[in-house]
Amino acid sequence: MCGIVGVTGNDNAVKILVNGLQKLEYRGYDSAGIYVNDQHGNDYLVKEKGRIADLEAKITPAVHGSTGIGHTRWATHGVVSVDNAHPQFSQDDRFYLVHNGVIENYQDLKSQYLSDVPFKSQTDTEVVVQLIDKFAVEDNLNAHDAFIKVLSLLEGSYSFLMMDREKPDTLYVAKNKSPLLIGVCDGYNVVCSDAIAMLNETHEFLELMDGEVVTVTPMHVQIEDQNGKSIERNPFHVDMDASETDKGTYPFYMLKEIDEQPNVMRQLASVYLAENGNPVIDPELLEAMQAADRIYIVGAGTSYHAGLVGARLLENLAHVPTEVHVSSEFAYENPILSDNPFFIFLSQSGETADSREVLVNVNNSGYPSLTITNVQNSTLSREATYTLLLHAGPEIAVASTKAYTAQIALEAILAKALGEVEGQIVAQNFDIRQQLGLVATGMQAIIDEKQELEKLSNDYLMDTARAFYIGRGIDYTVSLEAALKLKEISYVQAEGFASGELKHGTIALIEDGTPVIGIITQEKTAGLTRSNLVETKSRGAHIMTIVRQGLAQPDDTIVIPDVEELLTPLLSVVPAQLLAYYTSLNKGLDVDKPRNLAKSVTVE
Ligand code: F6R
Repeated sequence: MCGIVGVTGNDNAVKILVNGLQKLEYRGYDSAGIYVNDQHGNDYLVKEKGRIADLEAKITPAVHGSTGIGHTRWATHGVVSVDNAHPQFSQDDRFYLVHNGVIENYQDLKSQYLSDVPFKSQTDTEVVVQLIDKFAVEDNLNAHDAFIKVLSLLEGSYSFLMMDREKPDTLYVAKNKSPLLIGVCDGYNVVCSDAIAMLNETHEFLELMDGEVVTVTPMHVQIEDQNGKSIERNPFHVDMDASETDKGTYPFYMLKEIDEQPNVMRQLASVYLAENGNPVIDPELLEAMQAADRIYIVGAGTSYHAGLVGARLLENLAHVPTEVHVSSEFAYENPILSDNPFFIFLSQSGETADSREVLVNVNNSGYPSLTITNVQNSTLSREATYTLLLHAGPEIAVASTKAYTAQIALEAILAKALGEVEGQIVAQNFDIRQQLGLVATGMQAIIDEKQELEKLSNDYLMDTARAFYIGRGIDYTVSLEAALKLKEISYVQAEGFASGELKHGTIALIEDGTPVIGIITQEKTAGLTRSNLVETKSRGAHIMTIVRQGLAQPDDTIVIPDVEELLTPLLSVVPAQLLAYYTSLNKGLDVDKPRNLAKSVTVE
């Protein structure tokens, strides 16, 4: 949700910024901009609505510099326009600022300090940069001190990168809640919201903590804590190849990421399972989980849906009561917790602000927690007691696919490990290694038949305004995820529904031809879901099925291979991902960057 980049001390600043912004485009694509300075009195501000490609088209060969900042925006305050694009700047053109986050008290600050200042934008960010300028001028403060003075007045979330024309080789950096890293390079330095933006420059990054203020010059990174005390910190190594973030020959990242799922399953098995198939999980983590009387899984969107499956895995294999919560709701609900709760945070990005808000409360209460994430050193990973990484490789498409299946597979490994230390027979008999092998092969079989799914999408989903996925139990949870995929990238209004619940009201929406897709993988409820499908067919629906082989009947639409019932979401979701992909693709939409969305949602 907004991406920011900066560089100091490299004559290729424009190229480094634009390349970095391209890698961060998944964080927002409403508008973009850069400011660069060549240290010889020349500076350039270029901003444009739309994608990074639109910005690039506006950057003439004359635009050059060795220090600069850049931004790709997901609009919060203010409409999508060039004026509201970042960098924002002060009225005397001295200070330039890019911002990721939301300043909650910007209206108060504006009326208290800046009533006489003419504003060019509607953004909260302009208030911050005008205020820095005001304090610099009126209180005769240098950029660093004016920046710190303004930070002390702010409420909300931010990562900031600021430049001062009077000291053009310096980047002023600060963060609160929103992510930011400093990349340490040879003779120059970079700053970015996500390491993948700068992997062509460096693999060594310094993490920043909330409240710290950092001054970055070509040869030096000075980190200060809230009291101005200098902090020494060693960089961490990001072990990822820049090419992992490329699309290769794929038309869209989403298809690449769907296709990668069999390998992600194998990768998880190789990282978390020993030769003999036993899970290899930190014993301290398992002890902390054993001490809990209840597990609370917290997540948003697709990660929440993966949590719904995780709860079933933990309850069935480890017999520990487990609740699942939408993070944005849980953060403000004051729930009554059990005596010894243990929290699991599911987050592909590790940066979701709604989930982080819950984690802050959990930490304040002193409860133990685990973050399951795809991003090493992400905020949720740093701040939880324990972390398990998904090892799924970067997920760039806004619609999450491989992170969902990786989360479920890792939850299964964790549930098996916990069940075993708890002495649960069902966990001991659960051959996770064999099952993940079957899952990987099963996923590949579905992916190999993708042209059938494209045909179904063309025949039944392309021209519909609305569609339903229905199922019971674990199949219902997959229905929620399947519907989310379809709606977010193809704009079909899709609902995931508990199939027994349809007749209690929602069935009124079924009309001639409304597509209703039943997910049927559980023996116990297969017959019931089939009856519910027939009820919709009698009212005109066009029904389709995603069915596990062992439960298949002659006129089923999509038959998926058999795996252990608890793991069927890993397979039943794949046809739904592909149906959504093809519907979006053949409607001519931007599959990877659906409207109004951003990948990493760092505002609440
Ligand atoms: C949907 C999707 C989102 C994310 C949600 C949480 O395809 O990707 O619903 O799952 O924004 O993000 P993370 O997992 O990064 O916390």
